Amino acid sequence: MDSLGLFIFLMLLYLQWTPAPATEEITWTYTGLVGQPEWSKYFPDCGGTSQSPVDVITTQTKYDTSLIPVTPLGYSQHGNKPFTLYNNGHTVVIEMPEWMGLGGLPWFFTAVQMHLHWGSGGPSHGGSEHTINGLSADAELHVVHYNSELYPNVSIAMTQKDGLAVLGILIVTGEETNPAFNNILNYLQRIRHADQKVSIPAFDVQSLLPKDLGRYYRYNGSLTTPPCYQSVIWTLFHERVQISMAQLLKMETILYSSKAEDPERILLQDNYRATQPLKHRVIFASFSAESGKELSSGEVTAIVIGVMCGCVGLAVIVRFIVKTIRFFKLLHHETVVVNSSTSSWDVLPSNRPATMPRIRETEKAKVKKQDMALNSTCEAEKKEEPLSLQTEP
Ligand SMILES: *[C@@H]1O[C@H](CO)[C@@H](O)[C@H](O)[C@H]1NC(C)=O
Ligand SMILES: *[C@@H]1O[C@H](CO)[C@@H](O)[C@H](O)[C@H]1NC(C)=O
Repeated sequence: MDSLGLFIFLMLLYLQWTPAPATEEITWTYTGLVGQPEWSKYFPDCGGTSQSPVDVITTQTKYDTSLIPVTPLGYSQHGNKPFTLYNNGHTVVIEMPEWMGLGGLPWFFTAVQMHLHWGSGGPSHGGSEHTINGLSADAELHVVHYNSELYPNVSIAMTQKDGLAVLGILIVTGEETNPAFNNILNYLQRIRHADQKVSIPAFDVQSLLPKDLGRYYRYNGSLTTPPCYQSVIWTLFHERVQISMAQLLKMETILYSSKAEDPERILLQDNYRATQPLKHRVIFASFSAESGKELSSGEVTAIVIGVMCGCVGLAVIVRFIVKTIRFFKLLHHETVVVNSSTSSWDVLPSNRPATMPRIRETEKAKVKKQDMALNSTCEAEKKEEPLSLQTEP
């Protein structure tokens, strides 16, 4: 009945305003009649070339040393003024006070609101909008700011270049409860239906963010919901935040996308958009893939063994060089002794490489003599061995 009604409504809409449908009136959804594949029919930007979310293929990101950590400003100064929590039928929105902002970008951005995206069916069933190397997280938090240096308000900024800065925080499930998220989740019961609003105690917004604000991916993209304006400077953090399974299930099962007066209740689930083609865009990383890599215990063992082998090898080489130098010094000393005495032992002088060019010989003979010198080196080394063992501690 409901979808038939919507269909008739849309048909009438089409007949009345064929060239430009009144986009304000259209109720879009993630699946169904005005689902994702249809968005661009009503909201042309949704079919653009710089859409969000995207899949971040980490090996294809470009390390950019100019990307400094983003700095949340006033996130912890809530001043005990209550926040407003709102079910808009697509997500839960927390309105943010205007004194909160974001630094570390080329302009100052003023905070507007934050909201969540999630899946259905618990962990490992999707839920995040951005994916990393094709893998989804269980949910995603977006903190939205507008460029208050260039634009007068968010309504104007969201339609303009560099108008918005959104922080993307990937959420995964783990053992521990994340108390920061309970500041939102504990109040969902009061806004189960679309269009419901409630005041909630203010809390430290920074506690929702990962600790490491220095490592992130940066790219130019769009709103992930209609009208999909391509005005967003995206910051997707490398570090994920963790919530418990029970917290994820609350997020996934409490809210409805339908209004209180609607006869049919529709759970608000799977409110994430599919990843969009990157087209000609580059995703920048504020960190190099290697330094950010966490090593497994096997890799650590391999590195330790490798370094040890390297050290032993180096010690052997150094020892050999020292011994060779010592041998030549010894040889030089003996030669001098032999020469100063009147004994005619004429093999020795030719063993000294320094004296060789002085002797006129054929090339063949030279090679032979060099071989002899090499052999005597080995022999001298063998002879010297017990001696050096005694002298070294
Ligand atoms: C935003 O600013 C524009 C231009 O100054 C103004 O026309 C509009 O009413 C403002 N919108 C809001 C929501 O304040
Ligand atoms: C975003 O686009 C602007 C040009 O419109 C460009 O100067 C900037 O470097 C781009 N940023 C990223 C992260 O690609």
